[in-house]
Amino acid sequence: MRLAKRVQQLPPYLFAEISRKIAEKRAKGEEVISFGIGDPDVPTPPHVIERLRAAALKPANHRYPETEGLPEFRKSAANWFKKRFNVQLDPEKEICSLIGAKEGVGHAALCFIDPGDIALVPDPGYPVYSIGTMFAGGTPYYLPLKEENGFLLDLDAIPEDVARKAKVLWLNYPNNPTGAVATLDYLAKAVAWGKRYDVPVLHDAAYSEIAYDGYKSPSIMQVPGAKDIAMEFHSLSKTYNMTGWRLGFACGNRDMVNALYRVKTNLDSGVPQAVQEMGIEALNGSQQSIADTIAIYKRRRDKLIPELQHLGLRVTPPRASLYVWARVPEGYTSAGFATTLLDEKAIVATPGTGFGPAGEGFVRFSLTLSDENVDKALARLKGWKIPPAKK
Ligand SMILES: Cc1ncc(COP(=O)(O)O)c(C=O)c1O
Repeated sequence: MRLAKRVQQLPPYLFAEISRKIAEKRAKGEEVISFGIGDPDVPTPPHVIERLRAAALKPANHRYPETEGLPEFRKSAANWFKKRFNVQLDPEKEICSLIGAKEGVGHAALCFIDPGDIALVPDPGYPVYSIGTMFAGGTPYYLPLKEENGFLLDLDAIPEDVARKAKVLWLNYPNNPTGAVATLDYLAKAVAWGKRYDVPVLHDAAYSEIAYDGYKSPSIMQVPGAKDIAMEFHSLSKTYNMTGWRLGFACGNRDMVNALYRVKTNLDSGVPQAVQEMGIEALNGSQQSIADTIAIYKRRRDKLIPELQHLGLRVTPPRASLYVWARVPEGYTSAGFATTLLDEKAIVATPGTGFGPAGEGFVRFSLTLSDENVDKALARLKGWKIPPAKK
């Protein structure tokens, strides 16, 4: 049997060694505390679950959904968008439901990338931008997110010939893994750049609602003229603690949304309708759970960061997202520090290199573990003398 090149080319699992160590420690009965995956520990709000209970009993929901999503879900998304960003979206033409933003991001590559094309992809970045590109036969062209630029992708540094060849520009703010945010001015520059080179701008806004200290993330759709060249991906996963239910939506330029819809109709049959009903409830109902969830992450952020700083790690508190992006101590690589943290303290952080080569020198701590475990981890870290990096 020969597997297709796209499968053969998948990068090796970077954290195989760390995963092996975690399994070994757990087998010995050691309690490993993980700041690894960004998957909310807080449950879905009760009123959303109640809606699922009722929706599950309706025979109409037992049948195939429509790929573009229930009209009522798309209307709810449009109303939410209008309230949140003061942007009017046409629920018929400018919104498509998604089986989570990940599904939309992955399939979007099939809309814009032909074999041999290049996609501009942030490094470090959510891996699906580059893997999706590769699955479509294209090549990711990595654009480094540098600390000195506030982890904003430097549009002016994109070489002219690359800009002319590119078929898509990926952006993601609030950013995974760096926690960086972009201003509306920055997003406006990205739209102008996309128009100058006729390159679709795809903005992944999966973390738009997880923000601290009064910060409100902008949408690229607030940029005048964004609908000419941009599409944005939204997710209910982090906003309403719904990662397990798989629901999001794409919105923006109608031809781009329609292309994604056409790809999807040929590959999936849409989001289960009962789950879309949960989305209708989440988007239209009380938004209190968002503030409550943010308060929890903020508490964890504000406990963890001073402890990391005491240890000598350089960290800027994120204004949004679920992540604390910390520079590893002098002399360490990302993987080296993550391994030492695991060996000595049984604590898991994700090496920055898991998100691309420019993630070297950083580790990512996700805030999605229980307060009890955060406190246990902090107690372990207190007074830790980090050993010198092995040469
Ligand atoms: C940047 C980014 N986009 C999209 C997703 C996926 O979101 P969803 O759960 O809606 O598929 C994630 C999940 O971690 C993410 O980090």
